[in-house]
Amino acid sequence: MNTNTPNRLTIRRPDDWHLHFRDGDIMRGVVPYTARQFGRAIVMPNLSPPVTIAAMAAEYRDRILAAVPAGVDFTPLMTCYLTDATDPDDLARGAAQGIFTAAKLYPANATTNSAHGVSDVAKLAPVLARMEAEGIVLCIHGEVTDNDIDVFDREAEFIARHLRGIIADFPNLKVVFEHITTADAVEFVQNCGPNVAATITPQHLHINRNAMLVGGIQPHNYCLPVAKRETHRLALRAAATSGSPKFFLGTDSAPHLRKVKETSCGCAGIFNAPFALESYLAVFEEEGALEHFEGFASLHGPAFYGLPVNADSITLERAEVPVPDSLELTGEDIVPWHAGQTLGWRIAD
Ligand code: DOR
Ligand code: ZN
Repeated sequence: MNTNTPNRLTIRRPDDWHLHFRDGDIMRGVVPYTARQFGRAIVMPNLSPPVTIAAMAAEYRDRILAAVPAGVDFTPLMTCYLTDATDPDDLARGAAQGIFTAAKLYPANATTNSAHGVSDVAKLAPVLARMEAEGIVLCIHGEVTDNDIDVFDREAEFIARHLRGIIADFPNLKVVFEHITTADAVEFVQNCGPNVAATITPQHLHINRNAMLVGGIQPHNYCLPVAKRETHRLALRAAATSGSPKFFLGTDSAPHLRKVKETSCGCAGIFNAPFALESYLAVFEEEGALEHFEGFASLHGPAFYGLPVNADSITLERAEVPVPDSLELTGEDIVPWHAGQTLGWRIAD
């Protein structure tokens, strides 16, 4: 298709390959933001309690589907939260039944609701072997959790300590290195075979670590993995806009109410779902790479997961879009990504 003009861009409907919906009222409040833009989303399982078995995922999927606005076509793709006790048979059965699209590896205590995560990656070998055999995608939160490792080094250290080994031991396992934040991760993924890919969030394309720490502490720019120094941001921008099929869209939108972000011990996570596509598009425009936007947003993800691209399309048009300072969620305040800024594109009706 090429009906594009300098002021209008039509692409296949995109998907979000990494997203937190939560549950209950918060979930019902945030699902419409994602369903407005994306055809599908890989839904993270870090609920409390986590989504560890197929039966839980099937019920969670039904709750999400009930929250999709009438007339909107949106498919949640469910993930299994891996623990030290994951049953490979339940996982394989859930995948065969179309309940699980992927499984998620959180190193224990790496981030929000990850206390039940994997305590020793080596012990996961039987599960990974089964996933490799069945073609089930492994999504990885790639940070070590050891107290002696500096928070800015935790991703690079994960590559050295765990990821190289997983990929060497399971060469045919499909692995998504999620929300990458470093030049080290970009280079690692580029040097792997086609069964290793990465998602990149909008925030890691827009900000470096100064945005979190300069001019006072900025809790709404805090997520995990934390933003790194500028050289890493530039490497991520180059990767995302390069046209390489190894990099695709995954927002990691992680809603936390204002009151739990602006407090003495604030939660990690950036709520970017409301203007996610517009946020990514700003990056592609700044990089002079609009021709690669559709690949990143709509084509590379389905190709990696072995799924068809979405049938319909979405049009973005140039317009001044003011992002509110805050939004209402469950009768409370939540601060969206880009709060108070003006974006340059909007989704046409
Ligand atoms: O910043 C984050 N928030 N990173 C994660 O890995 C989890 C997420 C959340 O669930 O809030
Ligand atoms: Zn996440």
